Amino acid sequence: MMQLGPTAICRELGVRYPIFGFSHAPDVIVALAEAGGFGVLGLAREMPEDIAPIIAAIEKRLAGKPYGIDLMLPAGVPRHADIGGVREALPAGHVEFVEGLRERFGLAAPTRPSFFTTQVRSEALFDAQSEAVLASNARAVATAIGIRPELIARAKAAGKYTISLVGSPRHAHKALALGVDALVAQGADAGGHTGPIGTFSLVPQIVAAAAGRPVLAAGGIGTGAQVAASLAMGAQGAWLGTLWLGALENHTPPALLKKLVEANSDDTLVTRAHSGKPCRVVRSAWIDAWQASGAPAPLPMPQQQALTGADFSAMHEYDRADLIYEAAGQSVFAIDAPTTVAVQMATLVAQANAALAALETTLSAR
Ligand SMILES: Cc1cc2nc3c(=O)[nH]c(=O)nc-3n(C[C@H](O)[C@H](O)[C@H](O)COP(=O)(O)O)c2cc1C
Repeated sequence: MMQLGPTAICRELGVRYPIFGFSHAPDVIVALAEAGGFGVLGLAREMPEDIAPIIAAIEKRLAGKPYGIDLMLPAGVPRHADIGGVREALPAGHVEFVEGLRERFGLAAPTRPSFFTTQVRSEALFDAQSEAVLASNARAVATAIGIRPELIARAKAAGKYTISLVGSPRHAHKALALGVDALVAQGADAGGHTGPIGTFSLVPQIVAAAAGRPVLAAGGIGTGAQVAASLAMGAQGAWLGTLWLGALENHTPPALLKKLVEANSDDTLVTRAHSGKPCRVVRSAWIDAWQASGAPAPLPMPQQQALTGADFSAMHEYDRADLIYEAAGQSVFAIDAPTTVAVQMATLVAQANAALAALETTLSAR
């Protein structure tokens, strides 16, 4: 009887199950490592000065267990950016629209400084993030949205395993030409920044393009049967992001957690209102206001975040049930109660094994 176990990429990285978890929460990464998965810590939302202490703390807790770090490196951002300067240059109509939303929803300014209130994405920020990752003991470095040849070359020279998230065969060819070790085929179903091709159509195309290099399937995956299906499509594992938002280790604000438990796949949508680039999120009155007729088209990255980042922080700080949103995929259907990463991993493995057994039964039935 077939059982879920390590694939070649798992053996390379030293993990038991072909389940990869992206998260911004260090507690999720540690719990994933303890449960036999491979956690990849997203640093795209951290203040530059916090990155080194975050890495030091997680490495101490992991005590040598393998983990990865993910950076989001879009092209086209300014070389240097100070949020004050970007804010001053925002179009007056957009500023007025957002002021109107704050008034309409009674949304106060946040009191706590965060990435979204103090930073805008720039090449200087990406350089600082890249140096911190290269100096870390992370076994793998993943990059999304954009790819930096120098980072890939230096990470490989440092003995790190390099992973690139791609949403189309074109992106895959670019990453493969730079020598990345593995690809994540992230379909449109995914939470976060995403392209237009659905996971089920994307994965076989990326597996073909990768010509033997490992591919992980991502986007809309929340059950073990989908993990097994990913392997059947030629992937060496599944890469999940949204599911962990339902784990206690993610410290999801209570109103957001309730929303995610109640949400179905069609409560998510792709919008540029969050960052300026297409991003799948779970909807809220704030997101709906940007979709309404008469709303201005969102600004590009990084202006849109300079415009609305403080509001994103405020709705999380005040746990505003009506407004709060987060990146979330169609996989949100699989969050049906608050739980822990250990339970989620055990469930995924049990479901994958049940799916593999059911497949044998289906194919042997006369
Ligand atoms: C809250 C959240 C934040 C994300 N942020 C990033 C990020 O910073 N970098 C990145 O490569 N992917 C990011 N992603 C996408 C994940 O890496 C992953 O590809 C995606 O979650 C897979 O689809 P799923 O959400 O249906 O599981 C994010 C996803 C979520 C849900």
